[in-house]
Amino acid sequence: MIRTLRNVDEQTLREIAEEKVLRKTDELFLLFSLGSQFDHLIKQTLEKLGVFCLVADPSQVKAADVEKVKPVGLILSGGPVSVYQDPPPFDDRIFDLQIPVLGICLGFQLWVHHIGCSIVKADKREFGTHELSILNTSFLLEDCKDGMPVLESHGDRVEANCKLELDILAKTENSPVAAGRYRHLWGVQFHPEVTETTYGSQIFENFCFRICEAKDRYPATEVAQRKIATLREKIGDKKVLLAISGGSDSSTVAYLLKAALTGKTGHLRGVYIKGIDRPDDEAYVLEYFGNQDWIDLKIIDATERFLEVLKGKQAMHEKRVAMRSVYKAVLEEKAEAFEASFIVQGTLYTDISESGKGYATEAKKAQIKLHHNVDLGFLIEELTPLDDCVKDTGRNVGRSIGVSETLLTRHPFPGPGLAVRIEGEVTAARLRIARQIDEIYIRELRERNLYETVWQAGAVVTQSITTCTKGDDAVSGFVVALWAVWSVNGFTAQAAELPWDFVKRISQRITNEVREVGAVVYRTSDKPPATIEWG
Ligand code: XMP
Repeated sequence: MIRTLRNVDEQTLREIAEEKVLRKTDELFLLFSLGSQFDHLIKQTLEKLGVFCLVADPSQVKAADVEKVKPVGLILSGGPVSVYQDPPPFDDRIFDLQIPVLGICLGFQLWVHHIGCSIVKADKREFGTHELSILNTSFLLEDCKDGMPVLESHGDRVEANCKLELDILAKTENSPVAAGRYRHLWGVQFHPEVTETTYGSQIFENFCFRICEAKDRYPATEVAQRKIATLREKIGDKKVLLAISGGSDSSTVAYLLKAALTGKTGHLRGVYIKGIDRPDDEAYVLEYFGNQDWIDLKIIDATERFLEVLKGKQAMHEKRVAMRSVYKAVLEEKAEAFEASFIVQGTLYTDISESGKGYATEAKKAQIKLHHNVDLGFLIEELTPLDDCVKDTGRNVGRSIGVSETLLTRHPFPGPGLAVRIEGEVTAARLRIARQIDEIYIRELRERNLYETVWQAGAVVTQSITTCTKGDDAVSGFVVALWAVWSVNGFTAQAAELPWDFVKRISQRITNEVREVGAVVYRTSDKPPATIEWG
């Protein structure tokens, strides 16, 4: 099935018609992806509602194409640019087709600009959650609660001084038009697709079923079974090398492959690359994937190779690039030795999106950070069965095929490992400190039964040096930064409010037990504007 709608030719129309038959519906929605970090969450929300939605490339799908595919509704995502500066390539004649539109953030501003109302630079950029005051009843905000939290992340805003009959449906502290309507054009300045906006999916429900009057809901299909069948067909009798980390995504992929390769002993090899990993990763990998008859596990110690390429590298991006080269080389060497035809990874949609890729539309997309597992350009074909999932949906796939909860509920861990939890050069000595502080922090979280209450937690060796007094001497030591977040899928996150006595205890343990550390701080920022990892 088409992943991104670009050319509306005969073949495309045929494929859309086939999918409609399969879904027993004639109702199609188009999501114009304008480069938002959250575009995939919109798609997932629509899928959960059971509507058929295709992502459209705004640089290629023009008004005439939209008329050919006859959608019942159009959704425009947000994006990292402004309507005045570097606007996305969008054919605004689409707004005149009389098809209901829901514009989100930049998507809202695009139609507001098109009808001639003004967008201005806000005095204050708005990041994070704000209270929404509902000013007028409307289909769009029906069954939503006045005062509900909404997540905003924008620099420009729609002004309230439009001479046309722009209905102002809601406002927030810094957005006089947080939701608005002009005839068939609807828009919100905030992001209904993220979990922080508590009634967000109600807004999509309202748009699809009340405003666009859709009727059909397609039940969620057996996602895991579809994936297994696709893998089985693709792999055939060939051999597969899987990059395995002991975390939930690669473990889920291992079990998908187990099912896809049933009856083909000796076709699956798992490679665990050791070096900049968590102190307990190897133990999990050994426990679940060692000594199994369906996967041949190899543990490769690449510590020296990682340290060699990381030597002298200071910036996080530089370290990410360097680390990728070793990761790629080891996997390719091992694939060649095993005569594998495919390298398989547990890459999620989030990793791809944050690396600046995604639905590959021409709309400009910011690169948040280059993930270790995206676009490595392997010499052999790469398979990424979870690339349409985010963390929670990936975990659900695993759950449905019996992956152990212990693996599924482990905190996520970045592929570049402790390299992004060490500021400045990664040396053997700093790696040792990073391991020690991780061990103390995670073990204590588990002991206090806090581990499962947070989505992810990490301890960072910063480059700040503080004067401290240990014994009678004034000495200096590293500042360690602790962080922990609450999240659902990693796209957005809130700083977790850990009990203060717990934070103090970790601080005391770290400064007492790790000689090189002089002080410990706790990060309080949410994502956005921060990210989850330090680097
Ligand atoms: P950020 O820090 O971007 O993290 O808010 C979102 C989630 O992704 C993890 N992360 C990575 N995962 N390769 C990965 O597989 C990477 O290069 C990478 N960088 C960040 C991060 O730990 C968090 O769970």
